This record gives sequence, C-alpha cells and structure tokens, in this order.
Amino acid sequence: MRSFDVIVVGSGIAGLSFALAIARAGRRVAIITKKTRAESNTNYAQGGIAAVTSQTDDFNLHVQDTLTAGDGLCDEAVVREIVQQGPARIDELRQIGVDFTNMDDGRVSLHREGGHSKRRILHVKDLTGAAIEAALLDAVARNENIEVLEHHFAIDLITRTKLSRLGHTGDAGAGEILGLYVLDVHTGKVSAFECPVVMLATGGVGQVYQYTTNPDIATGDGIAMAYRAGAEVRNMEFIQFHPTALYTTTNDRFLISEAVRGEGAILRNSRKEAFMAKYDERKDLAPRDIVARAIDSEMKRLGAAHVWLDITHRPKEELLKLFPSIYEGCQKQGIDMATDLIPVVPACHYLCGGVVTNLSAETDIPGLLACGEVACTGLHGANRLASNSLLEACVLAHNGADTALSYLQKYALEPVGIPPWTDGNVRDPDERVVLSHNWDELRRAMWDYVGIVRTTKRLQRARTRVANLSSEIHEYYWNFKVEPRLLELRNLIQCAELIIGCALQREESRGLHYTRDFLSKHPDAHDSAMRRR
Ligand code: FAD
Ligand code: SIN
Repeated sequence: MRSFDVIVVGSGIAGLSFALAIARAGRRVAIITKKTRAESNTNYAQGGIAAVTSQTDDFNLHVQDTLTAGDGLCDEAVVREIVQQGPARIDELRQIGVDFTNMDDGRVSLHREGGHSKRRILHVKDLTGAAIEAALLDAVARNENIEVLEHHFAIDLITRTKLSRLGHTGDAGAGEILGLYVLDVHTGKVSAFECPVVMLATGGVGQVYQYTTNPDIATGDGIAMAYRAGAEVRNMEFIQFHPTALYTTTNDRFLISEAVRGEGAILRNSRKEAFMAKYDERKDLAPRDIVARAIDSEMKRLGAAHVWLDITHRPKEELLKLFPSIYEGCQKQGIDMATDLIPVVPACHYLCGGVVTNLSAETDIPGLLACGEVACTGLHGANRLASNSLLEACVLAHNGADTALSYLQKYALEPVGIPPWTDGNVRDPDERVVLSHNWDELRRAMWDYVGIVRTTKRLQRARTRVANLSSEIHEYYWNFKVEPRLLELRNLIQCAELIIGCALQREESRGLHYTRDFLSKHPDAHDSAMRRR
C-alpha cells in the first residue's frame, strides 16, 4: 500500500500541469501513467493553443467563436472564464520553457483554424503538443514532491460508498475518495494506493472508433472509472471527427492539421472540384462538424474512399517552415505536399463530453477531480472550437490545484484500511483471441453505426452489439487475471455504451450529433446525461 496527498492519473498537459501546481505548494503527489510518461494525446497536438494575445483580437470574439461552434450548448460563464485566463496560462507555459514560434519580425506567429474569426492559435511549428509535454515533464523531473509511476494502470477508484456496499467498515476516514487500485504492468500485481484526492486526467476515448487520430492510450479509462464510481457523465454523443486525417490503407490516421487549411489549403472531391462553398459560406474554414459532414457527403455521393487536400499553391520552403512534421509524415507515404494533393478522410479526434465538473474541476464525488479531455466543463457544448482543448486543460488544472489544496486542509490523509485486491481463483487468460476479436468488433460497430451521420436504427443496432460484447467482457474480467488490454477493452465498451446512450437521448441534430431521424434542433437546448444506478 502506498499513500500520497494527491494522486493524479495521467501525464498529459492536464495531469502534469495540475501535479506541478500541487507540488509547488509543498504537497506529495504521485502521477500514475499507464505507458511511458510522454505517451498522451497531448504529445501529438499539432495546430496549437488558442488564446487572445494579439492587439487585433479580444476576449469577446474568442467567446463568441466558442459559443457559435458549441451550437447552443456551451455554458457562457465557463467559456468566458476559460478564455479570460488564456493569457495567464500562456505566460506559465512560457515560464517553464515553451518557446512559441515567432514570425521573422519577432512577433508571435498565430495560426488560424476553422471557426476562429481571428488568427489566435499559438504554436511551436506543427509540434506544439510535443513541445508543451517536454517542457512540463522537464519541470516535473525537477520537483522532488512528485513521483512519476510509469507503466502503472489505474483500474478503479476506491470510495467509501463502494467499500461499505461490500460490507467493509474500515477505519473512519474523512472523505469519500479513499484511493485507487493500480496494476503494475511489469509485475502484473495490483496494489491499493491511498489518498484523499484523486485527479483524473486520463484524456479521451478515440480508440473506441476504428479510425482515429488518437494514440493507443485514448481508451476512456477515466470516464469509465468515474461512471462506475457513480459520477455523472454528460454529452458523450458529441464526438468530434477531424476532417483531415491522412488516408492510408492501414488503420493509422496521421493528422493533417487544420492550420494547413488556415494557410489556404482547399478541399477537393474525387473529381478535383473544390466543394466547401456548397456547404458553408466559411468554406474550408467552417467549424469541423460542418466540414466533416461535407466530406462524408462528397465521399458517399461519388463513391470515393477519400477526398483531397490541396496546398500546392504554397512554395515548398514555406510549407517546410510552417509544417515540418506534417511534411515529413506525408513524405513517408510518398506524398510531397508542395506538388501533390494529399488524400484525406475524417477520423475520430476528440470527445466533447465526459465526466461533469464545475470550473473548479470538482466532480459530484467529493475528493474526485477531473480535468482535460476526460472532463465536461461546459466549454465545448455540442462541438469544440479548434485548439480550445489545450487551453481548457491548463485552466482547469490551475483551478483544480486550488480546489485540491483547500480540500486537503479539511481532509487529511488517514489510514482507512483498504482491503487488498483479491485475485480469487482467476486464471491466466487462455483465450486472448476473445480480446482482439471483441476489440475489433467494437471499433467497427462504432464506426459503422455511431459515426458522422447517425440514425436511430443504427444506434439501436450498435446498442445490441455492444451489450453482447459487454456481457462477454464482464465474464472475462471476473474469471481471468487483469491485464491492460482487458482493462482497456472493458473501459472502451463502457464508454461505447455511454456514447450510444447519450446519442439515443438526443432527439435532434445539433453540433456533432447529426441524425437523419431528427434533422432540426430541439427548441430547448439540453445536455444528455448518464449516471450509474
Ligand atoms: P492526454 O494528453 O491524452 O493524457 C492522458 C494521460 O492519461 C496519458 O498519460 C495516458 O497514458 C494516461 N492514462 C489514461 N488512462 C490511464 C489509466 N487507466 N491509468 C494510468 N494512466 C492512464 N488540441 C488543441 O487544443 N490543439 C491542438 O493543436 C490539438 N491537436 C491535436 C492533434 C492530435 C493528433 C490529437 C490526437 C489531439 C489534438 N488535440 C489538440 C486535442 C488535445 O491534444 C487533447 O485534448 C489534450 O492533449 C488532452 O490532454 P489530457 O491531458 O486531458 O490527456
Ligand atoms: C489540428 O491541428 O487540426 C488539431 C487542432 C485541434 O484539435 O484542436
């Protein structure tokens, strides 16, 4: 049994920023992360981080762009607070060494992306996430109050309610959160970690779809854990499909940043015709939901496997300077973006819903906080404005640190006698094929039935298939030793149920949820919500 003041699950921008703020206040923090420390969605972020920093921009414009993209479901007070904190959080990133790209005249270079009325995206070339992740990890390594535990997989939260349901009385501790069960991936042993405050910073759920821009870690673990512990989860149907992932014949979907369209790239259909003007007056820089649906529609209309992205009008030197990593990624596939059209398709990219929190990062379970992509704060509403997620993660990590520190003043760490994890009679898994088969089946069903364009019938089909997978994996979970692939599949299935459940609640088309059965918007904008009974 290990004990800490605070345990953070996840080492992306949200978890690392939060841990640093807590450790600087003198508290002992553990960061639990299931692979190596840099492996996160954060590390792959390209376009940049949205914040009002230029003389020609202002907070109201950024607020308005966010509300417009969110299609009636953003919480305006939340939007305003997050936008207004932007400059301060950018300064903090600079202080730890993030060197945002400047123009030749020395002013900061600002990208433009879909839905933004101004250039306001700070970036480090096209490797913004990797630069932020490296700077944060460096600051974490220099802080003695932080212990980073790599290859440690958080399985489930331990709450007072859960223990008393199991008939375990334990010693009287103060709060509801008692700790976590954690798998050491290398030894295969599960231990209890004790703490009065847990910050979930586990990121999104991209791996629930067959095609995604997200790396392997994005399996919705934090959402599934929080839901199992009784927290409210909201708006899971709002899955953002990025319009332009590089089309290849494998499942890999390398991102071609929206900033490429911000620099003038044009989408063309299989007949090489520019088509976005037919769908929206903002053309190629319309919000992502509109662009992704337009691409889907052109592909279906012409029976094409992809559309094209054309930036051949920009000189090679400029492209190499602006997008060195994208240039290289294309080149690996034999495409020279200065002379060739780039084949692109939409791919699952971002989850707008998640575990409900307020602006202080509090969930409805005392002691359980959440920030970053795992959380649903009300910023994104029905569709996230590009590059608002890194900003949201910084702001909520900052606010969440204040919340955790005041919580720790009330509820000190006390030994509560958490029962050890029992393996019972479980065996080593002997049918791993069940895992790989079910993993593929789930991701294909979600892609085919819960994609960019939905119908009630398709959602119901998906629900039936996922329910079968759920009962199979449930049985597997109780009979075999836990391992990461099993735990991830269990969590993905849980998240798929939440996505489908929320999608079936929404009898309208709004933002990222587009259903042929309810084409118009409901007059009363409302959140969808799920809570375990
Ligand atoms: P992540 O960075 O995903 O980190 C999650 C962490 O949790 C990881 O360390 C993971 O290993 C760990 N973890 C998960 N489950 C467990 C578990 N059970 N036990 C232990 N550890 C666990 N947003 C922008 O604003 N601008 C951009 O330019 C941008 N570009 C993007 C490009 C790509 C290709 C992708 C995929 C996303 C992009 N996004 C962008 C979105 C943005 O990167 C993410 O929303 C953001 O980085 C999420 O940060 P996070 O800290 O919440 O989660
Ligand atoms: C991109 O660079 O297109 C991704 C930006 C984002 O997801 O916010």
